Amino acid sequence: MRTLCLPADSASIAQAAQLLRAGEIVGFPTETVYGLGANALSDPAVRKIFAAKERPADNPLIVHIAALADMEPLCHINDMARRLAAAFWPGPLTMILPKKDIVPAVVTAGLDSVAIRMPSHPVARALIEACGLPIAAPSGNRSGRPSPTLAAHMLEDMDGRIPLILDGGACDVGVESTVVALTGDIATVLRPGGITPDMLAGVLGQVQVADSVMRPLKEGEAAPSPGMKHKHYAPRARMTLYEGTAEAVAARIRSEYDALPETERALILAASEHLPLYGNRRTADLGPDEASAAHRVFALLRQADDDRITRVFSETYPESGVGLAVMNRMARAAGFDIVQT
Ligand code: TXA
Ligand code: MG
Repeated sequence: MRTLCLPADSASIAQAAQLLRAGEIVGFPTETVYGLGANALSDPAVRKIFAAKERPADNPLIVHIAALADMEPLCHINDMARRLAAAFWPGPLTMILPKKDIVPAVVTAGLDSVAIRMPSHPVARALIEACGLPIAAPSGNRSGRPSPTLAAHMLEDMDGRIPLILDGGACDVGVESTVVALTGDIATVLRPGGITPDMLAGVLGQVQVADSVMRPLKEGEAAPSPGMKHKHYAPRARMTLYEGTAEAVAARIRSEYDALPETERALILAASEHLPLYGNRRTADLGPDEASAAHRVFALLRQADDDRITRVFSETYPESGVGLAVMNRMARAAGFDIVQT
């Protein structure tokens, strides 16, 4: 199969909508990362997503909608969901709610809850409206790879596997949506993202963060969100994170970098203001703040692979605000290899 990658305009969006209605899968931009979409109400169409991504069948998908009225047929809406939708939709927030029968089991990996999100990206919205269907879409990477924040990343992973990718330029947020479970008494963040726990608490009064957000699951432990138990975002290089003051972290990274044998190609990920601490060693700039790190991190991990990097040393961020989302992704990319300096 040849994969077309077309600038997202009204003609290509109409073509993508036609493909979705015909049971095909297509790539499209959202404000978080690129997604790989299928008609969420069609079992065979959704199966094509799992095949193209090589995604484990026990990891459920997010269903994307363009209007609040599209939510009602899919799930049982509660008061918390209404308030969060009013505050944060359209936007980078996914809500887990009890599912209704119309949602095929393949979408939810057999769970009795379903993940719903209303994206704000104009191309995503136009596509959902044009096909008139809820769209099941995971991130558009092959399973285990960093999520795509450019159409070129998605083409790298999906070339020959899907008919079409809509190119809408770089994604704004850069990390996937916040996933919050609303199936219990207290809203629980299962995956941190652009909508922070503080923002959710501002609306609901109370919110908790699943503790598996910042640690690996123990052997045999049940995952609150199936996505947490799978290896994620990993570059081919071995990656280690360093916590501590900027000076202590830089001193430790410099000495480990300099001690590597010549056969290794090392890369240091650092905040803009710390780059001078690393002299002429190979560095990549995470930007001036957490939001820019979120925007850049997946692209930098892909670039490290393209540059045949074998060892990545990275600075860290405080686990608050968007920093929690960045650290959640980096900790998984590093296989939770985190050093205190
Ligand atoms: O920003 C995003 O959310 C992107 C764009 C394309 O919208 N999508 C995305 O999908 O990141 P994906 O499949 O890569 O991540 C979905 C996450 C997974 O961790 C999955 O386990 C979790 O949501 N999830 C989905 N349904 C769930 C459910 N019923 N209960 C618990 N977790 C669920
Ligand atoms: Mg994903």
